[in-house]
Amino acid sequence: MFDRPQSGERAVLIHAAAGRVPDLPEREEFAELAVSAGAVVVDEMVIGRRRPDSRYYIGKGKLEELRDRIQVHEADLVICHASLSPGQERNLERALECRVLDRSGLILDIFAQRARSFEGKLQVELAQLRHLSTRLIRGWTHLERQKGGIGLRGPGETQLETDRRLIAQRIRQLRERLVHVDRRREMNRQNRLRADIPTVALVGYTNGGKSTLFNALTNADVYVADQLFATLDPTMRRLELADGSAVILADTVGFIRDLPHELIAAFRSTLQEAKQADLILHLIDASDPGRWQRVRQVNAVLKQLDADRVPQIRVYNKIDKLDRRPRRTKNSQGEGRAVWLSAVSGEGIPLLLESIGDRLRRKMVHGVIRLLPRQGRQRARLFDLGAVTGEVITEDGGWELELTICERDFQRFMKRENLQAQFLEQQTATVPVTAAT
Ligand code: GTP
Repeated sequence: MFDRPQSGERAVLIHAAAGRVPDLPEREEFAELAVSAGAVVVDEMVIGRRRPDSRYYIGKGKLEELRDRIQVHEADLVICHASLSPGQERNLERALECRVLDRSGLILDIFAQRARSFEGKLQVELAQLRHLSTRLIRGWTHLERQKGGIGLRGPGETQLETDRRLIAQRIRQLRERLVHVDRRREMNRQNRLRADIPTVALVGYTNGGKSTLFNALTNADVYVADQLFATLDPTMRRLELADGSAVILADTVGFIRDLPHELIAAFRSTLQEAKQADLILHLIDASDPGRWQRVRQVNAVLKQLDADRVPQIRVYNKIDKLDRRPRRTKNSQGEGRAVWLSAVSGEGIPLLLESIGDRLRRKMVHGVIRLLPRQGRQRARLFDLGAVTGEVITEDGGWELELTICERDFQRFMKRENLQAQFLEQQTATVPVTAAT
């Protein structure tokens, strides 16, 4: 049986990616990640291998070099950029007598440190256990406490089997709890829909300043840190606009390039807030030279979440670092499209509030919706909303309704009734909409 070496904070980084050498921005980002997990980077190695070694990922020569470097710097942790198989991780730990983590393990660790809400903590633990269940190790005996311990171990069971069983049990427990939490979240969402309070979601690459802006807008006390991933759980707060109307502002988890699959899955329900939002504020660190790449990565994650059709305002933050004035640009319909501001000094925040108001103001759309004979309830609802301007009965006994309706009401109706349709984007265009259940 193999006991994993203790982990520490003095880390040697290995920059390696499948079949290529990671470029400088990737290496910098990786080092930043390690630091934000609390590591002290004492040395770095760049490794370019066409094909990873099946046992150690790196070759024998590099392994020796790494061992020396660990000794010289008294390091107690090796963090590898590339994904390691459980076997490679274990072999490296044995050979180096030092804890080894790959990028997924590192990100999971950061998420574990930062999760604040009950749901976030459950999600992270679940993702960690899934990750670890393929990397069987000793040291899971603390899990016994969750179940009382006594009588847990079957006769003749090895530690490894016990670990495996305890992990599976805990995963089941976490899943069940998350189902309840999810249900509660959905109920809250439905309540907001019913109360007709629009939701505005703050998204952005990690460290862009979401929490700072969130606090500036709502005077809330959300954890702010100059580290990646300070925020993990969407925190909801009421925000009043200049015209007295209210919106719910949701702070979401910081995005990052190539978020490990375990985490995308774990945070799916949390990130749903962005998909369900009426408006997304996409926060961008205007002082970051790599901002365009980050913008693309955030948009890619939004697409993955099916949230790419939600209207967006781009918020360029940290203009105080650039000595720039606050300003905004508008789209062809005269609504705020991008705002430049500083969440720290507060400059430009009134422009943002105005732009949010503009974008949420009632915009009328026209279209035709087709309903099936069994969708009489939905038809009645549209009449109640005063949206129907014409009606044709179709051959199958259903209806084709011509609608003139406020865009937001229409979106809410579709969400509430769980219908799918093309998004009605233009004020005057007649877009055929097919409703499907
Ligand atoms: P995650 O939760 O990790 O995704 O980060 P975040 O996007 O919520 O960033 P956060 O608000 O924690 O801010 C990150 C760092 O940027 C902190 O050190 C902030 O003080 C700093 N920051 C935020 N807004 C501004 C700004 O307008 N100007 C300057 N100079 N710094 C800012």
